[in-house]
This record gives sequence, C-alpha cells and structure tokens, in this order.
Amino acid sequence: MPTYQIRGDVPRKRHIQFRDNGSLLTEEVMGLEGFSGNQSILYHLHSPCRIRELGDFEPIEREEWVPDAHAHRHMRTMDVDEDGDAVSARRLLMWNNDVEISLCRPAEPMDYFYRNGEGDEVIFVHQGGGTLETIFGDLPYRDGDYIVVPRGTTYRFAFDGPQRHLVFESPGLIEIPRRYRNEYGQLLEHAPFYHRDIHPPAELRTSRDRGRYEVKVRVRDGYQTYVLDYHPFDVVGWDGYVYPWTFNIRDFEPITGRIHMPPPSHQTFQGKNFVICSFCPRKLDFDPLAIPIPYHHSNLNSEEMLYYVDGNFSSRKGIEVASVTLHPSGIPHGPQPGLAEKSIGQTETHELAVMCDTFYPLKLTKLAKELDDPDYAYSWYDEPLPGRTIEENPAGVTSHF
Ligand SMILES: [Fe+2]
Repeated sequence: MPTYQIRGDVPRKRHIQFRDNGSLLTEEVMGLEGFSGNQSILYHLHSPCRIRELGDFEPIEREEWVPDAHAHRHMRTMDVDEDGDAVSARRLLMWNNDVEISLCRPAEPMDYFYRNGEGDEVIFVHQGGGTLETIFGDLPYRDGDYIVVPRGTTYRFAFDGPQRHLVFESPGLIEIPRRYRNEYGQLLEHAPFYHRDIHPPAELRTSRDRGRYEVKVRVRDGYQTYVLDYHPFDVVGWDGYVYPWTFNIRDFEPITGRIHMPPPSHQTFQGKNFVICSFCPRKLDFDPLAIPIPYHHSNLNSEEMLYYVDGNFSSRKGIEVASVTLHPSGIPHGPQPGLAEKSIGQTETHELAVMCDTFYPLKLTKLAKELDDPDYAYSWYDEPLPGRTIEENPAGVTSHF
C-alpha cells in the first residue's frame, strides 16, 4: 500500500501474453474497491481458481462474556497458553463489527496456508521473530513489528523461537492515516514515520512444486479449506500497491509538545471506526507548569484498549508487561489518585504500548473473564474497602491515559 513495488518478472504491458517455458501464465488483478482502489497484478503458473478438493467449512464461534457491571477492566495476558499454530492460536479477547482483537502464542508450525479473504490484518509482534512467507515473497519480521497483511494475501508463518502476538482483524481497510499522506501517497514531513521505515517483502520465491496443499480462507464468518494440487506460491512476478509490509514500533517518531499532546498524535493506523496508536519512549511536556500525564477524559463514543509492551509499569498499580486495560465508553477515566501530582517534573517516559480506540462498543469474550482483575475498577478509590487492601502509594507515573 505505501508505494509501488515490483518483484520477479512481469510483462512489458498489462494484460498481454506472458509465458513461462512456452506456457501462458495466468494474470490475476488483486484489487480493492471494485477496480478503483489500490491493486497488484500477479502472474501465476496455475489458475488461482484451480482446486482439487473442497474441504471443510468451520464457522467462527465467539463466546461472549457479559460482565455483571459496566466498569474499567484490566486483564493480565502474560500467562495465556501457548497452543496451536500462528493462526489457530489466535484467542479472541474483544471485538465489535469493525475489529477483532486477539492474543496469540503459537506453539506449532503451520502445516497449511492461510488467507483472510474478507479482512485486513495487523499483527503486532510483542515477542519473537521469523518470516511471514507470502505469495508476494518472504517478509522477515522481528519483535516490535506491526505486520500489515492486506486481505487476499496467502501466507504462512515460519517462526524461530517463542512468539507473542497481538492481532487486529478488520472487515474494513487498515491504512496509514490519511492526514500523513499527500495526494500522491507520499508521507508528509509531519508524519511520525517515513517510507524508509516501511519494509515490503524482501524476496519472491516461485514454487513449482506439485503435491497436496491446504489453503484455509477466512470467509463468511468461518474458515473454508481448499485443497490444491500445486504449491500456492506459484507467482513468477507481481507489481502494484497491495502487498504485506512491516513497520517497527521503535521506528515511530513520537510527537511531543509544551503541554499535553492528545492520543491522535500517537496514531499509527486508521481503520474503519477504529485507530491503532503507538505510545513510545519520549520526552514529556516541557512547559514549567505542565502536568505531563493526561487529564481525565470522557471520550463519549470511544472505547480505549491499551496493551502494555515494555517499560517500567511497576509504578502503575497492578499493571505489568502484556497487561490489557479497557476503558469503555459511557464513563470517564484518567490517572489514578496522586498520579498527576507525582508526574510533575518528570521529563521522559520509557513505556511502550499499543492502543486501539474503537468508536463503537467492544464485546468481551470468556477469555477476558478468565484474565480479568476485578480490583482494577476500584483502583481510583483511595479509601479502605472491605476485603481489599490499599497500597500505601497506589498511584505511579504512566503517561498513556
Ligand atoms: Fe484515554
């Protein structure tokens, strides 16, 4: 999406004869928004429609948890089980019609190929590295990467070592914010990242292998398996604007101000009715009277999900690496008692976090119930409560919300 790319061999013109050892190749235009959006053109050894066998269709089942009370939530996700492969290990935590947010700790290699037929994906790699093998070529990734996978991309994870992913899937497009781009698509000077920070597939590897290959495609709220008699990475060349890419959160250039900058200054991606933001280590507000942490706020039509990646959270009560907080719409949120005072004079923050704000309410799953910390809703109350102990200094310095 960010710029025009070309890999492998493509003919001189679109839609003309192009042969491989005398055989006519199959041209596929993979495009968005009915031939009016971005597209790539791929040249296959086989028709991409060719299937040997229609496999099973597995409907997606979401187990909703409706809490007894509407309250701020904190979930500790560090100990979520390692289980399954890089797709089947995705465990849905919360969702609405615009975005699904899942935790993923895969333990096994994928023995099939995967394609999200009806949604874009952003996979934030909290821990781990490897290669996303795709029909557009190999995409190496490392910890801190956002792996952006446009719908229609056939892929398979090949990872080295333990993995911890936070996965966003959306039926809408996930894009670089419009206000960061000029009318030609180039990233503007005020954007917090540049094209050099964006990494497309490194190398196209054309497979001519024949055999039995399974491709699982997410469609119609389920997974349809197709069995092919050829390797799905049969592309000899492609060009265009649609392909997977990575962007590392540590390449996000934070925008700071004399007084507090609001969350849109941290925006990294725009989705339909949601945004994804990166909170990175940075200098804090420098006015002599500045309060470096946020004011209380009621984003009246926003839900705020925050995933804590790295840094010192010990000063924030109960929050740890891989914690998720959800501050839902309808009620205000802000720093815990004492925190604003404590933050005065702080000059920098070293915390790293990923935030997703949605403009419509999120539903929770039973996994969220399993991980829920019921004390969090009371963490703004600094008087003793029956059955609960109040830490001597419950508030610490955090700069996110
Ligand atoms: Fe907030």
